[in-house]
Parts: sequence; C-alpha cells; structure tokens
Amino acid sequence: MAMKRVQVVHGDLTKMEVDVLVNAANERMLGGGGVDGAVHRAAGPELLAACRRVPEVAPGVRCPTGAARITEAFQLKARYIVHTVGPVWFGGSQGEDELLASCYRECLSLMRTRQLATIAFPAISCGVYRFPAERAAVIAVEQIYLAIRDAPEVEAVYLVAFQQVMVNVLQHAVDQYAQLSKRSGARDVDFSRHAMRSKA
Ligand code: APR
Repeated sequence: MAMKRVQVVHGDLTKMEVDVLVNAANERMLGGGGVDGAVHRAAGPELLAACRRVPEVAPGVRCPTGAARITEAFQLKARYIVHTVGPVWFGGSQGEDELLASCYRECLSLMRTRQLATIAFPAISCGVYRFPAERAAVIAVEQIYLAIRDAPEVEAVYLVAFQQVMVNVLQHAVDQYAQLSKRSGARDVDFSRHAMRSKA
C-alpha cells in the first residue's frame, strides 16, 4: 500500500496548494473572523456568493455543527473549499468531542467521494470557539488516521497552524499517534516528525 502522509505545517492555511482546503466556518456560512475571514479574503467575493447558494437546512443554517459543505475555491490555490463547523466549547459535556470528530470525518469523506488526494485542515474550533488545543489535536489525528488507512487515493493530509504553540500541540499528537500505531504494527502511515513552513 502507498505511504500515507500526515504532516504538520507552520504557516497560513490559505496559501496551501491542495485539492481541498478546509475552512473553520459557522453555521450561516457567510464569513467571519479567524480562518473563515482569511479564506474569504483570499478566495475573493465569488466565495460569498457560492456560500449563499448553499441551501439552508434550517433558518440561518447552511451547515450544521459537525457537518461539512463543499464549494469551489475561486482565487485560492486549492481546488475546493470544504466548509465545516466545529463545536463551541462549553466545557466538554455538550457532545463537543464527537462533534469535532464528525467535522474531520465529514471533510475527509467529502474528499474521498470526489477521489481527491490532498487536504489541508486548520485547527478547527481552537480559536474563537475555544476548544482546548491538546484535546482537539488528539481528536483530529485519530479521525484522520482512521479515515486514511483504507483510502489509497489520499496522498497527504496537512494540519496547518499559524501559531507555534498550536504547531507544537499538533506535532505532539501526531508523534504520539505514530508511536501507538508503530506498536500496533500499522506501518503504512508516515507521520512526519518535523513541522515545516507552508509556501509564502
Ligand atoms: N492559517 C492557519 N491557521 C489560522 C489562520 C490561518 N490563516 N487563521 C487563524 N488560524 C488558527 C487560529 O489561531 C486557531 O488556532 O486557526 C484556529 C481556528 O480558529 P478560528 O478561525 O477562530 O476557528 P474556530 O475556533 O473554529 O471558530 C469558528 O470563528 O471566524 C469565525 O466564522 C467563524 O464563527 C466561526 C468561528
């Protein structure tokens, strides 16, 4: 089986040259701050128009928490944007872990449905939505590993973070998982050990 790659990248998500760039959106899907703001600015105004065309499933809700929706990527170097809505952290008893896991699963599932090979994630919910970083990183890595182990078409999964502290947290989660999977004999996954910068 081909090597799979999970790599932590220190840099700006919007610069990633990938098939799928994941946006940490909100349920309305009409833009916001953080990643969402940066993605909309970099993709250009056509993105907002495309988001408006995504049908509402409830008043003001185009993408429920834990779900994902795909649009074109317009002026980004990516081919598609997958918008996902992470949970707001309320202390952990409101199903936050499962909702965050669902975000990663849904994004990877949309990618696989379209036979796409590379995807870049931000640290979903780890900004304005205040999900604890270490806990989120473990969930992210676990879900990515589960999704790609039987997906020969997935070539690379990038976990992209702006801040060094988040890079370190993500890298730690990747290293931990790599050790675990090595012990259990799952050697087809290459969890890269070193963080690198995205292209400026
Ligand atoms: N590249 C990489 N990482 C980034 C970038 C970027 N350009 N911009 C922000 N980040 C990091 C933040 O530092 C944080 O660690 O992404 C992580 C996610 O932060 P948010 O963008 O605040 O996402 P989230 O916590 O999921 O909150 C979503 O914020 O802007 C609104 O519309 C959005 O309401 C939604 C909410």
